[in-house]
Amino acid sequence: MKKKLGHIIAGSLTEGFELRVNPETDLETIKTGKFVSIVGKQHKFFSLITDLKLQVTHPDILLFPPSPKEQLLSSILKQKDIYAIAQLKPMLMLGSDGTPSPVKTIPSHFCPVFEADNKDVALIFGDEHDESKKFFNIGTPLDMTTPVCLNLEKLTERSNGIFGKTGTGKTFLTRLVLAGLIKNEKAVNIIFDMHSEYGLQARTEKKGLGFVKGLKTLFPDRVSIFSLDPESTRRRGGSPDVTITIPYQSVHVEDILSLQNELNLHSTAMEVAYLIAARHKKNWLQALLSQGDNLKEFAESLGAHPESIAALYRKLKRVERLPFLKPSSGGAYKDNSVIDQMIECLDKGINVIVEFGNFTSTFCYLLIANIITRRIHTRYIQKTEKFLGSQKKEDEPKKLMITIEEAHKFLNQHAAKQTIFGTIAREMRKYYVSLLVVDQRPSGIDQEILSQIGTKIVAQLSDEKDIQAVLIGISNATNLRSILASLDSKKQALLLGHALTMPVVIQTREYGQDFYRAMGQNVTTKQIDTFIEELF
Ligand SMILES: Nc1ncnc2c1ncn2[C@@H]1O[C@H](COP(=O)(O)OP(=O)(O)OP(=O)(O)O)[C@@H](O)[C@H]1O
Ligand SMILES: [Mg+2]
Repeated sequence: MKKKLGHIIAGSLTEGFELRVNPETDLETIKTGKFVSIVGKQHKFFSLITDLKLQVTHPDILLFPPSPKEQLLSSILKQKDIYAIAQLKPMLMLGSDGTPSPVKTIPSHFCPVFEADNKDVALIFGDEHDESKKFFNIGTPLDMTTPVCLNLEKLTERSNGIFGKTGTGKTFLTRLVLAGLIKNEKAVNIIFDMHSEYGLQARTEKKGLGFVKGLKTLFPDRVSIFSLDPESTRRRGGSPDVTITIPYQSVHVEDILSLQNELNLHSTAMEVAYLIAARHKKNWLQALLSQGDNLKEFAESLGAHPESIAALYRKLKRVERLPFLKPSSGGAYKDNSVIDQMIECLDKGINVIVEFGNFTSTFCYLLIANIITRRIHTRYIQKTEKFLGSQKKEDEPKKLMITIEEAHKFLNQHAAKQTIFGTIAREMRKYYVSLLVVDQRPSGIDQEILSQIGTKIVAQLSDEKDIQAVLIGISNATNLRSILASLDSKKQALLLGHALTMPVVIQTREYGQDFYRAMGQNVTTKQIDTFIEELF
């Protein structure tokens, strides 16, 4: 039997409805974010509880409240004069034939409201055991046990975002989503793993169990680790599949653009970089860094301002301390082989984790992510064009999703206009590439980019600016605002957007033993060993 919570007494389509809570219902079982259904004559309106308040029929009651001893008076008041109102926001309606549609009509007075049941959840969010493998269990609605599924096919049609304050479970959510994409083979991924949390293992704050399994450990044959810091990867008990080295020639001026904020580079310094590149082409960085004492002459030879050259030199000099960036050794230089290896992996459906090891500075993260992404994107454009020309199924590129943490550093208003990540977010997967942005400060991301984000997974946020930012482009966002503010500080999230039939609050799926079992590897690890051998 479904539990009846009360009935509708007022409301509107835009502002939502008021549920008068039955006196028998234990008020404290009704929480914001709870998933309920209003049963009208022809439609069921699935709704979220967005707010709760107490009411009395007469103000005198508040002046002369019943004492704890006056139980009879108390229960009489409860029947008629004191009651609670829950604010509901309908998100979806189901017709009598079971087809979901946006809410365009309203239930009438006194329609009953029930707790949604497990059948409703399964009907709305899909069944994870469906043959299409497009539904992936990401958690359950509050106080329920049936999984809410993300539609992975829709997820990969756009760029997506995972937001929340620090420590709310963003990385764990991201790992869940990625595991879904890998397991069900709905996209290949490149993950820029700043803190080495995705590959082998990751720390968990939970007491007792200190570590959780990373994606490489769960899917050894489907994930390849590319490391900037092989020593660090080894210390953590694994060995990288590929050690990344990047020649100076692969660093383009565009890659430095996104570092402008980080390095505090004036725009004149950027202009100078373009001047050097015009003269020295691919060798521009090496040309600049080899000047040392001759900066003045170098500036003169380019017709550039000496101070701007000196500033650029000073700021980029730290590149020399990064062991994975190498000046060319003189002879003919082979186009960046690391990128070739990555492309080869992606073509085989193998996911790439770029581990930064001990190089956790924002400088490194931005630089490397930009260099790699720009080149991979160029290859994807070529692949797409080839496919459009040949129209052969085997030429169709595999969907690629690129995961970046601290996304506002790549996609702030300034950077989004000029860098590769802004381009990818804006072009909407035209070339089979999309982003999965993870961020604790969504208000730092360019508004246009935020409005392009298809599916949002939002854990607790408290800053008003951040809440506003994640709700950009969502109609009637005010109702969701209070839900966001009242999420638990961990393992709860509001899901909304393209990959979900309706917005919903979930208790995040536990990332632990049961999950590992559900991800059970179905291909032997031997395959990857032979592949890696073949490759290198
Ligand atoms: N789905 C989950 N299953 C198990 N534990 C979880 C889950 N989500 C969060 N946790 C717990 O919460 C802790 C914090 O989560 P996580 O590291 O993902 O936060 P975060 O939002 O990425 O934080 P930061 O912004 O600092 O990177 C984890 O160490 C883990 O103990
Ligand atoms: Mg994190």
